[in-house]
Amino acid sequence: MKNARLIMDKDFAIGQVDPRIYGSFIEHLGRAVYGGIYEPGHPTADGSGFRQDVLDLVRRLNVPIVRYPGGNFVSGFNWEDSVGPRESRPHRLDLAWFTTETNEVGLHEFVDWSRKAGSQVMYAVNLGTRGPDEARNVVEYANHPSGSFYSDLRRRNGAEEPFGIHLWCLGNEMDGPWQMGHKTAFEYGRTANEAAKIMKWVDPTIEVVACGSSHHGMPTYGAWEYEMLMECYENVDYVSLHRYYDNARNNTPDFLARSMDLDDFIREVVSICDAVGGRKHARKKLNLSFDEWNVWYHSHEQDKEIWKRDKWNRALPLLEDIYNFEDALLAGSILITFLRNADRVKVACLAQLVNVIAPIMTRNGGGAWAQTIYYPLMHASAFGRGTALRPVISGPVYDCTDYEKVPVMDAAATLAEDGSVTIFAINRDLREDVCLEADLRGFGNLRFAEHTVLHHDDVKAVNTEEHPDNVVPCRGEDALLDSGRLTVRLPALSWNVIRLVP
Ligand code: AHR
Repeated sequence: MKNARLIMDKDFAIGQVDPRIYGSFIEHLGRAVYGGIYEPGHPTADGSGFRQDVLDLVRRLNVPIVRYPGGNFVSGFNWEDSVGPRESRPHRLDLAWFTTETNEVGLHEFVDWSRKAGSQVMYAVNLGTRGPDEARNVVEYANHPSGSFYSDLRRRNGAEEPFGIHLWCLGNEMDGPWQMGHKTAFEYGRTANEAAKIMKWVDPTIEVVACGSSHHGMPTYGAWEYEMLMECYENVDYVSLHRYYDNARNNTPDFLARSMDLDDFIREVVSICDAVGGRKHARKKLNLSFDEWNVWYHSHEQDKEIWKRDKWNRALPLLEDIYNFEDALLAGSILITFLRNADRVKVACLAQLVNVIAPIMTRNGGGAWAQTIYYPLMHASAFGRGTALRPVISGPVYDCTDYEKVPVMDAAATLAEDGSVTIFAINRDLREDVCLEADLRGFGNLRFAEHTVLHHDDVKAVNTEEHPDNVVPCRGEDALLDSGRLTVRLPALSWNVIRLVP
């Protein structure tokens, strides 16, 4: 067994964890909405058509925000299509995903669903085919109390009280040529600035997210952030980052080291934000909204077939990745990376929530179950709140194709208001267990409460409707806290949550 040491102290704080880093995302894409959260006629559907089996799984994740309605979808979306009497809402071609959007579920329905889920809506406006005018109108519709055209329209449509949507995305991935209304950094920066300015004139309490690069490997990455922020720094609050990983090489050590790339990405975008701030002599600091992250590759081939066969149909089963155990390990180390960057990453959305590259899967008319990646998010959201502590880790490392000296054990820790400490740790070693040692005497009297482990002998193991409990957390048996010294055995290839309470 290898040994790894974790040094931390309650005074070495990274920052407060913003609970919104445990957010998620529902796009009008595939079966996320239709057949996912909404399926009138399903045995568990409530009077509004929302599946209660799905809502139960979403509630267990304790997701504070859900980004909506896209995604690529939003760049061709008219928000006005999604309000008012359902029977008169138009059916439109969705050029992002080559399907037909019926608008049966729209803004009011999604706000209603989010409330049932215990989440807030993070709403994206269309800055692709549309612009600042439609953006300020939807803010007026959603958030202005009454006495104006759009707020009164909302009231006539059944919502007396404003929706109070606080967090708004200024478009989606506007650097990407695949996006409807793709823009240069300058064009986008100007548009985002004007949109943000007048949206905030309508409701000065909102916060807005400017689109950063759609991924780390974009040819315009870096220059995009700098140039667009030069245009809109003063009026925006966050910059978005998106990142999806794959194990197309089928090399688990390489795959599990991807959080190193994530860490670099975060550090670089923070540097660019601060460079623009410095250039502008700004007192204000911009934070990051990692509003799309996940593993995404399992469904690529299947999707090509679906489009060949069923293009323009409604609710196609697109992006239905079936996640395996190693995907859950990477999801865990992504969450650890967010916690270790809690001073600047204030929002993050696991993309997405139901059926579409999602922790929750459903069958139309059938069951709903948790995929492997569900569990790290559930644990982090439940226990990773309070203050993120700065862990100093020493222990074995390995070299892989893209990185040298990847720590075999990766970890983050949080200190909650009640004095309890939670350690999240991954053991990336394929074969050997790691003995985690931590000196916790600086935290006063703590007692060991529980050690939860997610492990499977087969990295490709998955959960299915028939076998939903194939990869599930279990109780660890080998933790010891003696006179403030903690030792825990982290099994080879495992995600671990260690809870210590006063
Ligand atoms: O989450 C799936 C898609 O990935 C989103 O629509 C888009 O923003 C990103 O490219």
